[in-house]
Amino acid sequence: MSRKSIILVAILLTTGASLYLWQGNLSAAPPVPVKEAQIEPLDDPGAMEQKYPSQYAGWKATAQPTESGKSRYKRGYDSDGVVYDKMDQYPFLALLLSGSGYALEFNEPRGHAYMIEDQLEVEPARLKAGGSCLTCKTPYAPQLQEKLGDNYFGLPYKDVLSRIPEEHRTLGVTCGDCHGTDMELRISRAFTLGKGLEALGKKPDELKTAEMRTLVCAQCHVTYNIPQNDKHKSEDVVFPWQGSEWGDISAENIISRIRKNAHLNEWTQNVTGFRLGYIRHPEFEFFSNDSTHWQAGAACADCHMPATEVDGKMISDHRVMSPLKSDLRGCAQCHEDNAETLRQKVFVIQDQTVSVLIRSGYATAAVAKLFEKTHAEQKSGLKVNPDLYAQAREHYEEAFYRVLFMAVENSVGFHNPTEASRILKDAMGHAATADHLLRRALEQAGLEVATEIDLELEKYLNNRGEKKRMFRPEHEIKDPLPVVQESERKSDFPVL
Ligand code: HEC
Ligand code: HEC
Ligand code: HEC
Ligand code: HEC
Repeated sequence: MSRKSIILVAILLTTGASLYLWQGNLSAAPPVPVKEAQIEPLDDPGAMEQKYPSQYAGWKATAQPTESGKSRYKRGYDSDGVVYDKMDQYPFLALLLSGSGYALEFNEPRGHAYMIEDQLEVEPARLKAGGSCLTCKTPYAPQLQEKLGDNYFGLPYKDVLSRIPEEHRTLGVTCGDCHGTDMELRISRAFTLGKGLEALGKKPDELKTAEMRTLVCAQCHVTYNIPQNDKHKSEDVVFPWQGSEWGDISAENIISRIRKNAHLNEWTQNVTGFRLGYIRHPEFEFFSNDSTHWQAGAACADCHMPATEVDGKMISDHRVMSPLKSDLRGCAQCHEDNAETLRQKVFVIQDQTVSVLIRSGYATAAVAKLFEKTHAEQKSGLKVNPDLYAQAREHYEEAFYRVLFMAVENSVGFHNPTEASRILKDAMGHAATADHLLRRALEQAGLEVATEIDLELEKYLNNRGEKKRMFRPEHEIKDPLPVVQESERKSDFPVL
């Protein structure tokens, strides 16, 4: 061996040894201490009682059950104690959403006071996305996101929840979510709505009070997506508004954003095996898409927080709820009709919406079953024309998202009646086209398909986990998700 090569070997050996030692050292070393994000306790809303007793009392009252029978379709927490689940009301959804947590439990909304409690009670599969789920629930969301950074979105739900000071852990939307220090309206969720507004070309610092009376609600009553990384971990909460404009966020644009971006696909539909995205409570988008009331300058607060006289002073009713349950007080500022007449008008719109929703929903569910059959036949060797199949899938997904949009928008068509009927008619059309194309493909391949398709709905309706409850006699939490103790937290997360 030459001297040169001896030196080389020596260098290699020492480097190798030190590398080895260094690695060994790493695993032997005590874990790097994780500096916990310091979450500052927010002002207690109780402190507002003295200064703003009427607003505080209204806000508190969102915990009370609403009178049963006043609303036809929105019965989240009526005095009858029944929990209304969308799967019971629209059974086709149990089939279409099978594969997602929503199919296991999807209750109608109830008062703001319950937003966190309802998460603790709901089927845990619904919280798989992690910290993201707290974005529209806790007043701590902006702080958690700021301090935990991107980890906030993907950390387990109960881990993030446990970082909230204990006394505020079940606190839902509160004064500071909608108000600044001088009680002016403000957007507290810059990390979601702020970015959404930018996509619409709307500058957050140029918003008028009239717009804010809607936008404070649009922090949560909007559709959103939770993009996932390669490991199916949540990375963000985004509003699919790119390509849309203020006053024109159409269902089409939302659907096209979701369909064109694979990372927005959050779940796999059992029946078809397709990876799909979600649409959730698009109240703001649907209402602001040129509805009659948007044109008339009405804001969410006009109908849901009507001006009310208390002790000779006019205040905004902070008991946010269905206008049908608060006897349509907010409508009187513009309508001369009495409350009962208006209520009937609302019912007419909702009945019409539900009628088309049900028809298009079942039509779409039938196509899903046809895809299921096609896939089974393909497995046993049936050759299906790929073009026809691809076109059928295209139309099927378009129908599916429209049905979902209208099933989860919470006003049952009222916020924008003409838009409701347009969207649902298109859903019908897409479902019919998908059905036609897929049947043609199957016929070409030599397969006879019966006209009537068995949806096997019982299978989907009866397969909803153990959490299925129909009664909520008292509103205490029976078996809340255990909150992670400080010591149990994974330490491989944020070093802050
Ligand atoms: C921080 C998020 C957030 C904000 C801001 C918010 N909401 Fe909600 N809202 C929710 C959630 C979540 C629920 C469902 C709660 C549940 O079912 O536990 C809900 C429920 C409701 C309900 C149903 C109440 C019932 O009695 O069934 C209405 C109506 C409503 N919101 C309207 C509004 C309006 C109007 C605004 C603006 C003034 C607004 N919300 C602001 C998150 C929010
Ligand atoms: C979901 C959003 C939201 C929450 C939560 C909320 N407010 Fe409001 N608040 C509003 C809106 C909208 C107005 C109407 C503002 C306007 O038109 O300028 C309002 C108005 C007010 C006003 C002005 C007088 C009036 O009644 O119109 C006060 C005071 C007030 N709120 C106090 C509170 C207090 C105290 C809390 C917490 C206990 C609270 N608000 C929680 C949305 C909210
Ligand atoms: C012109 C009046 C009006 C305006 C403006 C309005 N809503 Fe509504 N909203 C209604 C009516 C009526 C219903 C149907 C209630 C029912 O069926 O019980 C409703 C239903 C809802 C529900 C479901 C209530 C429940 O009990 O489940 C939510 C949530 C909601 N609206 C939020 C909003 C938001 C957010 C905005 C603004 C983006 C808005 N609304 C604008 C009148 C209005
Ligand atoms: C800011 C004013 C304003 C408020 C508040 C308001 N409306 Fe309207 N509403 C209008 C105008 C303007 C029209 C269109 C002209 C018409 O049909 O009277 C309209 C139309 C309607 C229609 C016809 C269907 C449609 O959407 O085109 C119904 C039904 C209706 N309103 C119900 C209600 C109910 C229920 C409330 C309260 C929950 C309410 N409105 C609150 C201004 C208002």
